[in-house]
This record gives sequence, C-alpha cells and structure tokens, in this order.
Amino acid sequence: MLAIRSQFSNHFNYNASLVVKSPGRINLIGEHIDYNYGFVLPAAIDKFIEVAIGKRTDGAIHMVAVDLGETIIVPMHNLQPHATAWVNYIIGVVDQVFNNLASIENNLSGNENNFAKIKDDFNGGFSICIQGNIPLGAGLSSSAALECAVLFALNELYSLSLTKMQMALMAQTAEHKFAGLHCGLMDMFASLHGQKNKAILLDCDSLAFTYYPLALNDYSIVLFDTQIKHALASSEYNTRRLECEQGLKIIQEKYPTVKTFRDISLEQVEACLVSKVYQRCKYVVEEIQRVQLAVQDLAKGDMQAFGKKMFETHKGLSSLYEVSCPELDLLVAAVSNNENVLGARMMGGGFGGCTINIIKKTAVEEIAKELAAIYKKQMHKELAVYITSIEEGTHIVEGTHLVA
Ligand code: GLA
Repeated sequence: MLAIRSQFSNHFNYNASLVVKSPGRINLIGEHIDYNYGFVLPAAIDKFIEVAIGKRTDGAIHMVAVDLGETIIVPMHNLQPHATAWVNYIIGVVDQVFNNLASIENNLSGNENNFAKIKDDFNGGFSICIQGNIPLGAGLSSSAALECAVLFALNELYSLSLTKMQMALMAQTAEHKFAGLHCGLMDMFASLHGQKNKAILLDCDSLAFTYYPLALNDYSIVLFDTQIKHALASSEYNTRRLECEQGLKIIQEKYPTVKTFRDISLEQVEACLVSKVYQRCKYVVEEIQRVQLAVQDLAKGDMQAFGKKMFETHKGLSSLYEVSCPELDLLVAAVSNNENVLGARMMGGGFGGCTINIIKKTAVEEIAKELAAIYKKQMHKELAVYITSIEEGTHIVEGTHLVA
C-alpha cells in the first residue's frame, strides 16, 4: 500500500499540506458509563486512521477512502447525513465546524480579520485521503478515530484554535447527528488525548482527567475479536441510554438532590426501580464504584485486584445491562479460570466486537491458540487476536507540515 501522502498526490495532482494520525482505543474499565456521567479508563492503541489533507477552492469536500477504493464529493454547505457510512464521519465534523464558528471566533480572541480569512478559506473546501488499520466493527472506535483525525487536521489546516476537548465534544455531536449513535465522549476523548503507556481516567461529568502509567511488566493487553457485530448494536445502545435516563428521572423525583448516577446508592436503586430499568441502573451504580476502586488498584500496582474487577464488569454487562452476546460470553468464560489471565471482559458498546484481556506474556500464544480452537468449534467462526500497545493520541505525522 502506498503511503498516504503519495495516495493524495496521485489522486489530486497536488501535495497534501499535512498528514494526521489518530488511534483507536481500548477501555480498561468503566463501560457504558461515559453517557451516565461516571468515570472511564481508556487508552489509545497502536491501530490508527491516517488522513492526508489539502485545501481547495471549489467549495467541495473531495474524499477518498483508500482501503475501500471509493471516492465521494460533497458540497461544503447544507450538509446532511449521507448514504455512504464512512462519509458521515467526515462531513459530520465539517458540519460541527460550521456550527461552532462562534466559539472559534471566541478562541481567536476578537481578531476579526483573521477570523474572516479563516471562514473564507474554509468555505473553499478540502481534499482528503484516508486509510487505516483499525478493524471495522470491532469496538475499537474506528469511527471516532476518523472523526478526530479529520477535525484535528481541519484545526491545523485552517488554524481554528480548537482545544482537544472542544474537538472531542464536536466529534461526539457529529456522531449523534450524522451516524445516529447517541454515544458518550469516551472514544473521541481517548483518541485525541492518548499518551504512550498511559491510561486516562476521565471524569465524564466535570471532564477533568488524570493520566495513569500502565506498568504491565510481564503482562500484555490482548484483544480477542469475535469478528461479528450484531445488527441491533446501535439501536440497543440508544435504548440503554434512554433506560438509564428514565431510571435517573424516577430516582430524582424521590430524591431531588440527586444530580447524576454518582449521587445514587444501591439502596435507592432498590427502593425506586423495577425490571429492566432497575437492572440497567444497578449496573451503572456498581460500575461507577468499581472504576474508582480499580483506579486505586492501578495506582498500587495491584493488577490481580484490577483484573478481578474486569471480570465483575463483564458479569454486570452480560446479566444486568444485557449488552453482551454468546460469542463474547464464551471468550470471557474460556479464560476465567486461567491463572495466567488477570482479567477479561467484553469491551465497548457490545453485541460483538472484542474482549479485552490482561494476560501473562509467556502464555499469550498458547491461550490465543486454545481460544481460537474453542471459538471455531462452538461458534464456527475465526477469532482475530491483537496484542496491543498503548500509544500517543491524535498527532501530525512527523515530516509533514503546513504549506503556508
Ligand atoms: C461505545 C460508545 C462510547 C461508550 C462505549 C461503552 O464505544 O461510543 O461512548 O459508551 O460504547 O462504554
């Protein structure tokens, strides 16, 4: 495969101004609680999307998805959700730039001439080539990586002065509006803010965050990819969000001082809620507490205790929150009594995708082989295995720079 810069110049007959790389993410613990204003512990990984970008003057966005061999052209204005899924992650963030011109002007602190020029320039459109190695549908946030790569590139190209947090929030809204997934902030946040060998504790209420060194020593983070994505993933995701909002509202009616799930005790959940809404909210309250304890384990270097909590999270996601599936449950059950596996659980939105595992390095190969055989025998599918490293978040690829 040609480097992305060459792809760009071959396709557009001019040179890209810059190349931006944006990673996928893992999440160690804190699942389905970003949109419930809890805490999450994600990290950026060694799988990424790369974009090469350059300005245009014809008022259009020219997009090439190299891996898919597809080219799509869309006018800059009146952007609407597009029939081709990947296009939405690009035009969704462009739409967000238009919607956030006021805060961009604000960031430029009243330099009106500058702002007028930026707006003018931006209206001219841009060309973009994308390629990457994040497996699609595996729950590693390829869509967030693409949104963040594009937004970060636009921010550089047009000197928009957006902060990483502003970009994360804009990418999240783009996903809501253009992809229809009412996701939380975690994926975009992690892709943009990742640091090498560090996990990031994000407080999804205050948006404060802290980096935690991940000293795994003899252990590796291994992802087992079911290579399936059940069709109901996105609709069930949105339903879970609504069920939680419903539960929170009921509890707030009885306890008006409650602001978010963090203020809620298990006793209150027991006292106020029933059936599915009860199950969902019980999981959320437990998971919020679990993450806070898990972070203490991490700080002490007690990875045994940390791993145990990952198994507990899986149990909650599977039996209370009901976002797992037989394939994920099988992969977690198969390692649950293995002394070389500290922790395992389904990761991300669920209904397919990957499990995340902390496995003794010397045992990874054997366990992966064993699991692939079990998976093949019981589910008649191939297992994909990714041994992951924790990497830097969205950045400009060295050696590329802006042409004035
Ligand atoms: C998806 C969403 C995230 C988060 C996870 C579950 O990845 O995009 O916002 O809710 O699911 O933790």
